[in-house]
Amino acid sequence: MNILILGGGGREHSLAWAVMQNPRCDRLIVAPGNAGIAAVTECASLNTEDGGAVAEFAVSNSVDFVIVGPEAPLAAGVADRLRDAGLLCLGPSRKAARLEVSKRFTKEICDACGAPTAAWAHFSDAESARDHVAATDTPVVVKADGLAGGKGVIVAEDRETALAAVDGMFGGALGTAGTEVVIEDFMAGEEASLFVLCDGTTALPIGTAQDHKRAHEGDSGPNTGGMGAYSPAPVLNPKVERRAMDEIVRPCLAELARRGTPYQGVLYAGLMISEGMARLVEFNVRFGDPECQVLMARLGGQALDLMYACAAGELDLARVNWAKDHALTVVMAAKGYPGEYMTGSRIRGLEKFHGDSNHIMFHAGTALRDSGTVAAGGRVLNATARGDTLAEAAERAYALADGIDWPEGYYRRDIGWRSLGG
Ligand code: GLY
Repeated sequence: MNILILGGGGREHSLAWAVMQNPRCDRLIVAPGNAGIAAVTECASLNTEDGGAVAEFAVSNSVDFVIVGPEAPLAAGVADRLRDAGLLCLGPSRKAARLEVSKRFTKEICDACGAPTAAWAHFSDAESARDHVAATDTPVVVKADGLAGGKGVIVAEDRETALAAVDGMFGGALGTAGTEVVIEDFMAGEEASLFVLCDGTTALPIGTAQDHKRAHEGDSGPNTGGMGAYSPAPVLNPKVERRAMDEIVRPCLAELARRGTPYQGVLYAGLMISEGMARLVEFNVRFGDPECQVLMARLGGQALDLMYACAAGELDLARVNWAKDHALTVVMAAKGYPGEYMTGSRIRGLEKFHGDSNHIMFHAGTALRDSGTVAAGGRVLNATARGDTLAEAAERAYALADGIDWPEGYYRRDIGWRSLGG
């Protein structure tokens, strides 16, 4: 099978790593990829948000299956173009991708099927949003309706912060993402993510994870794309997962199908869990990054069979074979991230690293320069490990991170602290 993966971060490196372990994979191309991916397979330069260009590339390279990593190509309708061209593709249609593209849309789907989520209101102008904040208890959550690259959610402890968020969003701080705003009640609890493959009819849960969104230890500091993750998420135990599937995931998928936009792809349900009950925080229409890295570390080569069955509409025949293992990833980021940071700094120590199924160094934002690896993004490397226990996975992942000589980078030392009891 010839496979094309779209994207170039740690998520896509982990997808490539898993796919390449499956003997069904004959040829793998990743577009655009990064230095770590280029060391193990072909990379191609391609505008991944141009559905016509991706379809043409896939057909001319005899690609059988396309896996879309990030949300932007899905929001741009790339999966629709690929299916129109007769290609198998993992990723929802542009219309179904609205689950991530519009917070309001997701809330409407939840309300239509009774899925538990926070009470909400939607605003198209600053004045009504400000009036709402003035009449609402804090904390409150202010969300830009559109895609804002992880910057569109403000948990406001007080009215002043909420009003500043409203003014910033309607003032254009997030571009068109903030022209509409959703304001939600704050939900207390512990947040975790459930990943589900959906083929339009069948929904198959394929793992749980927890990430650390804040930049600094103790979950403090600014929000990032994620500074580390681990799987499974203890708080999302089998009982909570079953309820989440029955009360949130399946009803929302049924509502989408009822509206004529069945969902086909990976569904990432961000859940707030309290007293054994999950409520929906958000849906994303892709694997999380860095959550994908720990899911792939645990699934290995079977991930390809599962994703293919999803794209082919054969999930009713698919089964996940779980080992009783744990995985943890530590994100190594450029100093300054998520604010301003430098690119181009040299990363040493990678050449000494020889991975195996328990120790994997995924590249997130790297490039090759003068035959060495340099940082090319904010999140740069993902030191990832598996173990029989979470503590063993953490010890191994930190040993990997500590073996890298990169003075211009930093990483949190407490990934997994909630579950490790630290
Ligand atoms: N790690 C959070 C996300 O991928 O959205």
